[in-house]
Amino acid sequence: MKQIVVIGAGTMGNGIAHTAAASGFDVTLIDVAEALLERGMSAISSNLQRGVDKGKMTADEKQQVLGRIRATSDVSAAANADIVIEAIIESLPAKTELFAKLDSITDADCILASNTSSISITKIAAATKRPDKVIGMHFMNPVPVMTLVEVIRGIATSDETYARVAELSKQMGKTAIEVNDYPGFISNRVLMPMINEAIFALFEGVATPESIDGVMKLGMNHPMGPLTLADFIGLDVCLAILRVLEEGFGDPKYRPCPLLVKMVDAGWLGRKSGRGFYDYRKP
Ligand code: CAA
Repeated sequence: MKQIVVIGAGTMGNGIAHTAAASGFDVTLIDVAEALLERGMSAISSNLQRGVDKGKMTADEKQQVLGRIRATSDVSAAANADIVIEAIIESLPAKTELFAKLDSITDADCILASNTSSISITKIAAATKRPDKVIGMHFMNPVPVMTLVEVIRGIATSDETYARVAELSKQMGKTAIEVNDYPGFISNRVLMPMINEAIFALFEGVATPESIDGVMKLGMNHPMGPLTLADFIGLDVCLAILRVLEEGFGDPKYRPCPLLVKMVDAGWLGRKSGRGFYDYRKP
């Protein structure tokens, strides 16, 4: 793999582009608008700066990493890719439209990967004529820090595609873990019920957010408590994933807590909106 194309310059997309470029790959970062690309490149620059400030990388090395990323709003720049990693919004119609387009403009050998956290890889693959080369590459936030890539095999994904993606993950300094395509894969099938249960505990008045998070941090060695983590992921994202689990399994055990639904209705989406289980509006 030489040419990596990342589509979507949001938090996940810019983290994937950052990590690939820092591992020596040439990266093309594509998004629909110049302003989104500028914001993505600026996030990469400030995240790289963390390493410079701590003496882990020189300013020169930072510039070399940035120099390996080409940002463009022209999707036809994906034409020469060895792999395209899609990290756009979590919408099935948006993803199937994009994958059908990528299927028509990329070489027949090109792998089409999705960073989706909950949409079926099998459904995305069905929008293409190469379902054997469609796969999930689910990175964790913050991408440059977290070592997991959950690699999801759709029903038709070939062994060769899996092997190439596992090797690429390794070259990006990550560990690939293979899972099959069922709702929530493994990461969110296990994580979201835990977060939902923490929200139910708050809803029922069992403990404060600080106490719930404190128990899980100090007692289970989690780096963040579940409510802090929910705010970090985005409460709208958590709710959407719980809905996928609820619908996908038809099992009421995944029912989202009414407090989560109410907070999302209010626009309290966590860190990104300034308010979630905690208040981020204070300086
Ligand atoms: N880019 C680059 N580096 C970053 C970074 C970023 N965006 N964010 C943090 N870092 C680096 C810091 O520079 C620091 O580096 P050093 O070790 O070299 O000093 C290191 O990460 C730790 O950061 P901090 O010291 O600022 O803060 P911390 O120790 O509190 O760690 C954290 C922050 C890494 C986010 C940690 O709290 C953590 O691991 N939290 C859990 C994150 C998690 O669970 N992510 C998965 C979410 S689920 C998901 O993504 C999938 C889904 O489908 C919903």
